[in-house]
Amino acid sequence: MTIATRFITLLGKNTRLFSMSSKQRGKVVPFNLSDIGEGIKEVTVKEWFVKPGDKVAQFDNICEVQSDKASVTITSRYDGHIKNLYYQIDDTALVGKPLLDIELQDEDSTTTANSEAVDGDEETARKVSTSFHQSSENKRSKVLTTPAVRRLAMENNIDLTTVPSTGKDGRILKEDVLNFLNKDKPDVGNIRTDSKPYDVTKSTSSQEEIIPLQGYQKHMWKTMTQSLRIPHFVYSDECDVTKLIEFRSKGKEFLTHSGIPLSFLPFFIKATSKALEKYPRLNALLDEESQTLKIIKSHNISLAMDTPQGLIVPNIKNIQNLSITEIAKELHRLQKLGEKPSFAPSDLAEGTIALSNIGSIGGTYAKPVILSPQILIGAIGKIQKLPRFDGKGEIVGASVVNVSWAADHRVVDGATVARFSNTWKHYIENPIHLLL
Ligand code: COA
Repeated sequence: MTIATRFITLLGKNTRLFSMSSKQRGKVVPFNLSDIGEGIKEVTVKEWFVKPGDKVAQFDNICEVQSDKASVTITSRYDGHIKNLYYQIDDTALVGKPLLDIELQDEDSTTTANSEAVDGDEETARKVSTSFHQSSENKRSKVLTTPAVRRLAMENNIDLTTVPSTGKDGRILKEDVLNFLNKDKPDVGNIRTDSKPYDVTKSTSSQEEIIPLQGYQKHMWKTMTQSLRIPHFVYSDECDVTKLIEFRSKGKEFLTHSGIPLSFLPFFIKATSKALEKYPRLNALLDEESQTLKIIKSHNISLAMDTPQGLIVPNIKNIQNLSITEIAKELHRLQKLGEKPSFAPSDLAEGTIALSNIGSIGGTYAKPVILSPQILIGAIGKIQKLPRFDGKGEIVGASVVNVSWAADHRVVDGATVARFSNTWKHYIENPIHLLL
């Protein structure tokens, strides 16, 4: 199940899952962060839509959280009043742990009738959440310490029952937790003792900062580390884009009134799809375990995107069926989502081949890194006007751009990449053919 469907499932069932009995009304309960699927264990809190004292109803937006795979809006499962929030913006929240406390509405609820319709899945989820809460409560009550020390332990993921105590009657002191942390992690630098668990923290030297990786950066860490194991075959060429510049300029003018910006990227994307029509085996995903290639018919082109959160790679699907204008429109939509960033899981999933137009920022060449399990990626440099020889041997000013393709050399040979690149170059140098 994808995050999106899981999320929608949770929403659709909430009215039944969290209906209240009269005993529950007026009671303060923790609102735990539900399992949002895909093995996600933690998320970053990006925005709160509520504050303590606010009245909320079921399905009201509570907060927006971001995992390493997508952004998700969490909605209320209860009617009631917000008592307190556990996290600040950019804090890391853990799945199964409370996001906030909520005082259940002390009045007749319209949802009681549905309470018997709780299904197995949700009932289990509730039991797990309740028993988790109770067992941690039991353990907690056995430990003698102050709320501040409990908080410090929670922020650093420490089980207080494992910390040796030096206080009176076995009470655990703040120093005990700090000593425990320093013993475990001698190189960590400053231990977090404030109430912002994952904020940027100053290290022992005021000239340095320690920045924990979060959200999409963690995803980049994982995927790029995986990519390092792949033997990359890199092939580069230069394309003359003099005709493309003119072509784009006319298209841009034509689309001015529609509000759709037309950059060069839609042409690069369409040319990739056209070249794939000739070399369909490059639009494939590699299953390393079974040593098989899955050839995909849909050209779902992943695009490296520079966002305020760093590199994110959404994709545009079924490019083989889209016109340049439709691609430009879809690209515009993704760019808007990238500003926040707030991509739907579906925008990030199922890419089959990738492009990185680093030239929109600068640079002549770049060696792209394969986005496993894909097997091919292209990087495009900046378009430049440079002196070149024409057909008559005369020096002319030509607009040129460099493209570099990196292929997984375990399954793709260099000659295929060269031929694919020649086809791509043909379309870029003769953009009218992209329309035929
Ligand atoms: N050479 C020269 N100019 C280029 C260009 C290139 N290769 N690519 C785009 N441009 C131009 C565009 O046409 C536009 O100019 P215009 O206003 O005259 O139309 C301008 O640069 C800005 O383009 P941009 O808005 O960035 O659009 P885009 O469609 O080309 O690119 C993104 C969209 C999202 C891919 C791009 O903004 C981006 O994030 N690029 C960075 C990718 C990256 O980080 N790669 C590295 C991955 S490790």
